[in-house]
Amino acid sequence: MTTTDSELTPKTPKLGEEILSVTGLVKHFPIRKGVLQRQVGAVQAVDGLTFNVTRGETLSLVGESGCGKTTTGRLLTRLETPTDGKIVFEGRDISHLGEGRMRPLRRDVQMIFQDPYGSLNPRHTVGKIVGAPFRLQHVKTEHGVKKAVQELLELVGLSPEHYNRYPHEFSGGQRQRIGIARTLALRPKLIVADEPVSALDVSIQAQVVNLLEDLQEEFDLTYVMIAHDLSVVRHVSDRVAVMYLGKIVELADRVDLYEKPMHPYTVALLSAVPVPDTKRKKKQERIRLQGDVPSPINPPPACRFHTRCWKAQDICKSVEPPLVELAPGHQTACHFPENQPTDTPAATADQPKS
Ligand SMILES: Nc1ncnc2c1ncn2[C@@H]1O[C@H](COP(=O)(O)OP(=O)(O)OP(=O)(O)O)[C@@H](O)[C@H]1O
Ligand code: SF4
Ligand SMILES: [Mg+2]
Repeated sequence: MTTTDSELTPKTPKLGEEILSVTGLVKHFPIRKGVLQRQVGAVQAVDGLTFNVTRGETLSLVGESGCGKTTTGRLLTRLETPTDGKIVFEGRDISHLGEGRMRPLRRDVQMIFQDPYGSLNPRHTVGKIVGAPFRLQHVKTEHGVKKAVQELLELVGLSPEHYNRYPHEFSGGQRQRIGIARTLALRPKLIVADEPVSALDVSIQAQVVNLLEDLQEEFDLTYVMIAHDLSVVRHVSDRVAVMYLGKIVELADRVDLYEKPMHPYTVALLSAVPVPDTKRKKKQERIRLQGDVPSPINPPPACRFHTRCWKAQDICKSVEPPLVELAPGHQTACHFPENQPTDTPAATADQPKS
């Protein structure tokens, strides 16, 4: 397929307009065995995600360990190539762009990693680390790379004097700030932040989250924020997508999701979150999910959550519930959703007694 010039010069959407659209995104990692390395199966890490992200918003991806969040982030930033499906950024299909064609886009779409220790080269100075994107992308700066790096350090709350120091001289929170400075160097439009604060002390998590929020406002950034816990993203998300075993099981506005969760998995995740607010009418009992997440190599058929769901019926084991909009902007994939509006067809169908 050839790419036309107009496809190569995308327009930046206005705030609130779609910047990223994902359709049927799949990533299966083949499992190979034997001397011939024959494929004997696949890890179904991401298995059919469809969602969009609008410019300036924060969409959070939440779910337990192994449900495919990082793989999704790596697909969106094209550190991985999808097995199937489509990723469109600013109107341009980037799903299968080669490294050469991706290069200019690497400026626009960046990733912040979970581990502020592992993602910074210990042998490089802060100046070299934060300045690397300028050199890699051959970007000219007005007053030189050093000045640009020092400005970035100030922007993320570090001192320009930290330029010649090494990562080990900093605390975890400061290292994450260095990582954020590096990410911001080329003024990206979309940032995928993979559990940016989960490796940090609880006491400094809020500071880094606040920094990300301030930067979003200042630079009209769009975030896809990854977290395994609904409490971390409660205040920063505009919308939340809950993932389970490679699929989105619920996607809604933050307020709808936290106050009227429809998918039993979301309800269970929320019941584990300490809730200080008084808005929730009755105190919710903690729902303990049985067992671990099943293996994505051989996930349960139909509704993948049925092996752990307290509402599961026979139909859940044989018919996959599609992700459908049950209230405006509120999508859920469940045969027997909770908190559904009373006027939907699903609500009037026979409900199991719980
Ligand atoms: N390169 C790879 N090759 C094979 N399997 C992989 C690869 N990367 C990820 N996986 C598998 O895909 C599944 C999803 O992994 P992923 O890292 O995306 O989950 P996650 O939701 O980010 O989990 P966590 O909360 O632990 O970070 C896991 O079973 C993981 O072992
Ligand atoms: S479809 Fe069935 S098993 Fe799946 S979440 Fe809904 S009630 Fe539970
Ligand atoms: Mg992960």
